[in-house]
Amino acid sequence: MRCIFEISLEQPEIAKEELKRCLGSRIIRTEGQMVLATCGNKDFARLAYTNRAFEALFSCRNDELEKAIQEYDWQSIYRDDFSVRKARRHGEWLSEEQIASMIWKKLKAPKVKLKGSRTQIVFFFGRRAYCGRLLWENKKEFLMRKAHLRPRLHPSSMHPRLAKACVNLSGVRSGSIIDPFCGSGGILIEAGLMGINITGSDIDSKMIERCRINLLHYGLTNHVLNKASAKEIFGNYDAIVTDLPYGRNTKAIQRKDMKIFFKRSYVCAPVAIVMVASGTHTKELLGKWKVEKRFTYYLHKSLSKTILVLKR
Ligand SMILES: C[S@@+](CC[C@H](N)C(=O)[O-])C[C@H]1O[C@@H](n2cnc3c(N)ncnc32)[C@H](O)[C@@H]1O
Repeated sequence: MRCIFEISLEQPEIAKEELKRCLGSRIIRTEGQMVLATCGNKDFARLAYTNRAFEALFSCRNDELEKAIQEYDWQSIYRDDFSVRKARRHGEWLSEEQIASMIWKKLKAPKVKLKGSRTQIVFFFGRRAYCGRLLWENKKEFLMRKAHLRPRLHPSSMHPRLAKACVNLSGVRSGSIIDPFCGSGGILIEAGLMGINITGSDIDSKMIERCRINLLHYGLTNHVLNKASAKEIFGNYDAIVTDLPYGRNTKAIQRKDMKIFFKRSYVCAPVAIVMVASGTHTKELLGKWKVEKRFTYYLHKSLSKTILVLKR
């Protein structure tokens, strides 16, 4: 099936990579916020940086839109009631009302419902016009899990949207991950809620306690937590997903210890998603790990982070 994804412009590159790794999508075309792609599965709820997903109905030249609307079999996708929206309102194309009236005439017993209709039809305009039927909308429940809303907060905790995306970048669907710098559990919470087996460790026993309380708060009773240095990472996992300590709010890690961590982690998992402060010289740290992708994430004026997608 071909889908249209409306991605968040906050992190467009991460959004596209999530589509590939989570849904097995092959991207056909990108125009601003709109991504036209194949869709291997419909696990849309996993996506962090996609706002809406649509079944792609048709695309046409902008100047042939009227003809394409006339020719499309609207009855075949119509359920109960419908609404028409243009994802971008400007442009000299047909108005929403004009399009809705054309579709109305093609339906047997049409009913318009402007909010929450079962058949939400959306038009995107770029070099071409694209039409899609809404399949899924990101309700952004992760916002309810922001660090300050958890029972044990810590300022260094990752934004849940980013944590969710990092888990998705690992490509793990239902296997196991470890976060060896787990802190108060930002990554583990998101992974656990996706049904992934979660293991966390941290050098600081207070952090482990915070993490335990946070995980239990979200009903994640099935977890393994250890007080340990990341230098001692062991075991077998489908991926490592972690955020290396930096700055004033956490115990920073020595460079020589980072090197040991990367060396030991290499035997524990085939994939690692590791966030480091941008500007960290990673070349001689990574050992045998291969950098498959890298993304920049802007945190604030004085701190950006690099997300490394590492492969064995
Ligand atoms: C950036 S925080 C992790 C935040 C976490 N990803 C979250 O979202 O809540 C880094 C954590 O690394 C821990 N840490 C520092 N040095 C460590 C080491 N050598 N081994 C394991 N943990 C370490 C700190 O105690 C801190 O909790």
